[in-house]
Amino acid sequence: MIADWYASQRTGHIGVPEVAALAASLPAGASVLDVGCGTGLPLTRVLLEHGCHVVGVDSSRELLARFQANFPHVPVVCAPIQSCELQGRMFDAAIAWGVLFHLNHEEQAQAIANIASALRPGAVFLFTSGDVHGSTDGAPMNGVAFRYHSYSVDGYRELLRARGLTLEAAYRDPADNFCYQSRKTG
Ligand SMILES: C[S@@+](CC[C@H](N)C(=O)[O-])C[C@H]1O[C@@H](n2cnc3c(N)ncnc32)[C@H](O)[C@@H]1O
Repeated sequence: MIADWYASQRTGHIGVPEVAALAASLPAGASVLDVGCGTGLPLTRVLLEHGCHVVGVDSSRELLARFQANFPHVPVVCAPIQSCELQGRMFDAAIAWGVLFHLNHEEQAQAIANIASALRPGAVFLFTSGDVHGSTDGAPMNGVAFRYHSYSVDGYRELLRARGLTLEAAYRDPADNFCYQSRKTG
């Protein structure tokens, strides 16, 4: 099963420095939406260690079962982020690490709109994706084919701007992930 395989492969510290820096910048007890939270390891754990109140969203029932085994007290929503109902909850930050590029362009735009609508003024949204507009086939993972989709940096800047978010930083991390840090300003 791909969930077993993914859970065994998601090791190391990719994303940990970026999420730790984000969490450290938030007020004590901040609420954070962890989009595509997977098993929660290692990134949700970083948020919890910094005292954040986390809500996890993931479309995979299997990965969320692992998440709930790891963090039984953290609320979760099992749904695609582009259409999930967040029940009026508002957040001080959101992360979507390694998630958006699994969605096609239209779905990414819907996801960003849904996330933006759940962010308080001043909230930060950190996500990874590509930096070149297009769709490409990635290497199969455990025999499962994946297609990746990305906007350009300017494309993401405009999508974010249309939803009241300002792109503050766009950079490649040491593990070659392209990171976008934005803030709700509108
Ligand atoms: C590469 S994993 C990253 C997991 C976690 N963020 C991490 O860094 O370890 C991608 C995750 O996004 C989830 N996912 C994919 N499409 C999604 C969608 N439309 N809505 C919510 N979650 C989604 C997958 O089930 C998976 O858990």
